[in-house]
Amino acid sequence: MSFPAVRMRRLRRTQALRDMLDQNTLNPSHLIYPIFVEENISQSVSISSLPGYVRLPLAKVAAEGKAALAQGCKSVFLFGIPAKKDEEGVSSYAKDGIVQNAIREIKNVCGAELVIIGDVCLCEYMSHGHCGIVRDNEVLNDPTLELLGKIAVSYAEAGVDVVAPSAMMDGQVAAVREALDEAGYDQIPIMAYSAKYASSFYGPFREAAGSSPKFGDRKNYQMNQGNQREALREIELDIAEGADMIMVKPALAYLDIIALAKANFNIPIVAYNVSGEYSMVKAAAENAWIDEKSVVREILVGMKRAGADLIVTYHAKDIKSWLN
Ligand code: PBG
Repeated sequence: MSFPAVRMRRLRRTQALRDMLDQNTLNPSHLIYPIFVEENISQSVSISSLPGYVRLPLAKVAAEGKAALAQGCKSVFLFGIPAKKDEEGVSSYAKDGIVQNAIREIKNVCGAELVIIGDVCLCEYMSHGHCGIVRDNEVLNDPTLELLGKIAVSYAEAGVDVVAPSAMMDGQVAAVREALDEAGYDQIPIMAYSAKYASSFYGPFREAAGSSPKFGDRKNYQMNQGNQREALREIELDIAEGADMIMVKPALAYLDIIALAKANFNIPIVAYNVSGEYSMVKAAAENAWIDEKSVVREILVGMKRAGADLIVTYHAKDIKSWLN
């Protein structure tokens, strides 16, 4: 034999062949579109570290839901910035809180076509910026659970489709599930932030949401970047507590965790392509150092290939331009 019988290049010869054999095609239905909505503003406010992104006033939020649908997305992810923050996070579960109002506005206009996901956390509502109740400089676990349950129920009352507990308190999925069921919302699924790492990639989000911790950091509730086994335990616990989907966050530096989750669990896996990952691409693209469209496609395909079923991404805003 003059050459090995197998020539891998045979199947790469034409675009049609390559398309036909493509294992991971990007589909905008699998992308979740984040939205920041702020109380008490009437004009959009730009976010300097998140280029192309704004905090929206309530009056503009329904149009943004439409914009997500126009991009081919099926869902939006809501984050709220309240007019007032305090030590107890009371505006997080207010009937007419900013996220609750935004849910109603979007539902009114987009109806069942659009899946509205509400982030269930406290850092945006607390004056100290931590994801739970703080006493003597400590973030308390169990008292925080009750608040997370209240937030989830208030979102459900406003018409949310999915809730996403993200505080990284132990038992938060069970607490949210129980609160929802007791209030008669046993059909509302939970997308659990299960493997959420203490990461420097959240910087731009914290500017967007005004949610940086005022003292210390989040390392005693968010995960240690060096660990894999811990992620599997977190996911296992969340599934046992009733999670319907689990999330790995951030995504780019944690593709191994996504792959591990895929190999170990039969449940939809969500990757969160976080703010810092987005902003790095935007900054390089603005300098013409990389080609934005093809780099974004490559990053998102990589997350799919690792095992993500869904991807939360700020690039969802531009998908029309990079899909073609
Ligand atoms: C709330 C929350 C954060 C993000 C999503 N939900 C910030 C944090 O944990 O500090 C970050 C998302 C992003 O960076 O895009 N706890």
